[in-house]
Amino acid sequence: MAEGSLLGALRDEAVRAPNSGIYDVIAHGRGRDDVVRLWVGEGDTPTPDFIVEAAERSMRAGETFYTQQLGIPELREALARYHTRLHGRSFAADRFFVTASGMHAIELAMRMTAGAGDEVVVPTPAWPNILAAAGIAGATVVPVPMSYAPDGWRLDLDRVFDAVGPRTRVIYVNTPANPTGWTATADEIDAIVAFCEKHGLWLVSDEVYTRFYYPGGVPPSFYDRADLEGRVLFVNTFSKNWAMTGWRVGWLSAPPELAQILENLIQYSTTGVAVFMQRAAIAALDDGEAFVAEQVRRAAEGRRIVNEALAGRNRVRTVAPDGAFYQVFAVEGIDDDYALARRLVDEAGVGMAPGSAFGPGGEGFLRICFARSANDLNEAMARLTRWLG
Ligand SMILES: Cc1ncc(COP(=O)(O)O)c(C=O)c1O
Repeated sequence: MAEGSLLGALRDEAVRAPNSGIYDVIAHGRGRDDVVRLWVGEGDTPTPDFIVEAAERSMRAGETFYTQQLGIPELREALARYHTRLHGRSFAADRFFVTASGMHAIELAMRMTAGAGDEVVVPTPAWPNILAAAGIAGATVVPVPMSYAPDGWRLDLDRVFDAVGPRTRVIYVNTPANPTGWTATADEIDAIVAFCEKHGLWLVSDEVYTRFYYPGGVPPSFYDRADLEGRVLFVNTFSKNWAMTGWRVGWLSAPPELAQILENLIQYSTTGVAVFMQRAAIAALDDGEAFVAEQVRRAAEGRRIVNEALAGRNRVRTVAPDGAFYQVFAVEGIDDDYALARRLVDEAGVGMAPGSAFGPGGEGFLRICFARSANDLNEAMARLTRWLG
């Protein structure tokens, strides 16, 4: 059978899922060892020993069987303790659901709330997987572009609310945001919560970068303002805080009323997260604060290096982000960010993600991940600034 007809026999939602634009540039740089790779959203520190050892102990103790779909009770308790510490209010374990990554939490959130004929409003630029997950669920994404201003990225809430129509089921907010670092203020959060409540919309809050907030402390959170028994879902992950991107474990926080639905959706997707990974996750939550603090300190240093190299340069538009661990920048006179990303791989030996991959508003920008060693970042910035002239 010809390939065309094979693809033609698939579901539209699957065929239409876009290639990840970030991986297009990675593919371009494949096989080149001389490139400083700042394109993917992860640090360069391996998972610390105390987390690895917890998994190893569990595996050796024979915890290698099928497990509870929603997560082992000990991990759900540890998540409740973690959120109680972080947000200064009390959380019960029964609202935390263990998922096979933040990506899986996003997928479950979409499957529960939006399907064919529905719309999901997402401020962009945004992590491309969010937009793709909504599309694969059958829904249509309505992007709302943020705008770059020299004092920081802005989200015009009136544009967000104007984008909501009769088919809208979900507003997805990522704060602090990948790739811009935009972080919602308490007032913005209040306005979004009030709007969603008034219109019966689901709010999905993606706060995976909440620990990486450079003004200090914990940034405003939907946990502080929303009715947690209402239509609010929180997506989170062990990937970023505890250097566990390769493990694939995360969590969804949702009203306990949804437990049976989630139990079913997890049963029929991953059938639960390996117990030994969950033991590692408990170690991360209970014993990982010093490690998180060191990760954040390192990212703050990375941010300083990148910003000092780029800010105030002729032709470069950029602003130090409030949160997350990325800085985006644009070069005056160059609109095609894909071409620029490829040229910088070839001509400067620096790998960055193209802004267009993140949806409307990202065009012309490149994203640098600065959760890296000072050495790598200094080298990358030296190469980049030499190239810029
Ligand atoms: C905004 C955002 N949400 C969720 C995730 C999911 O992370 P993971 O699937 O590694 O848990 C990422 C990863 O880059 C992200 O940037």
